[in-house]
Amino acid sequence: MAKIAIEDYAEIIPKKPTGWQKIIREVKRLLPGNTPVKVKPKLGELNFYADTWTLQMAACPCDAHFAEYLSESGRSGQTVFHFGTGQHHLLARANQTLPTPNDILGITASMGEYQAYVDYIVAQPTAARNYKVFFADIYTLTAGLLPTFDVVSLFHLCEFYEPSNAQYAPLDDEALVKLFLTKLNAGGEILFYTGSSAYAKAEPIIARLTAEGVLTFKTAYETLVVYTAGPRAASA
Ligand SMILES: C[S@@+](CC[C@H](N)C(=O)[O-])C[C@H]1O[C@@H](n2cnc3c(N)ncnc32)[C@H](O)[C@@H]1O
Repeated sequence: MAKIAIEDYAEIIPKKPTGWQKIIREVKRLLPGNTPVKVKPKLGELNFYADTWTLQMAACPCDAHFAEYLSESGRSGQTVFHFGTGQHHLLARANQTLPTPNDILGITASMGEYQAYVDYIVAQPTAARNYKVFFADIYTLTAGLLPTFDVVSLFHLCEFYEPSNAQYAPLDDEALVKLFLTKLNAGGEILFYTGSSAYAKAEPIIARLTAEGVLTFKTAYETLVVYTAGPRAASA
């Protein structure tokens, strides 16, 4: 399968975000006085972001590498979970170029990114068939509401967890990995991002789970590392 060059993404990503500035303006209007848009939760508040992450290919190429990995490994028609869509929704846009796209479920805690998803599928309804995004704090996920996946990205593991989240969110980062292990199809993969700002925190979790036989290292691709369920995953 043809490799999509990183520079090609410039062609498929709109130069200007369409809707997210409006929602940030609206949030600012609703907040009293000149309160800045909250980017970190206070104790017991939902961990959400009014601000948004735009595409920064040099600093954060994980989504481009993920799209390339899926394309180069010949995956098509598979189920994919993606932690952190970004405002650009690059993974979905690249997915749409595949002869048989994968079915991607993305999560975002950014109101602007969610609005950008709405704008995207309104403008391109065919993209909606293979790409669903939901707005939630990933640490609130429960097994009952998740389907199973062939590939799971947990690129931003440890980047956003706050101990105060425990007031409403049952998961921490290790529990998040274990939750997705219960949701992997046979031969399924969990991918981590070695360029993450929190990889120094995520790596010991990954290393410990690997040493315990819960995860098994499979391969590395660009900035990503790929794991499968280890022999002791079921008892984790
Ligand atoms: C640093 S941005 C990276 C976005 C994209 N993957 C990229 O590389 O451009 C982090 C992403 O994680 C999402 N995120 C942050 N905290 C989250 C949480 N608690 N639950 C779900 N998504 C979260 C944000 O909405 C955003 O999409």
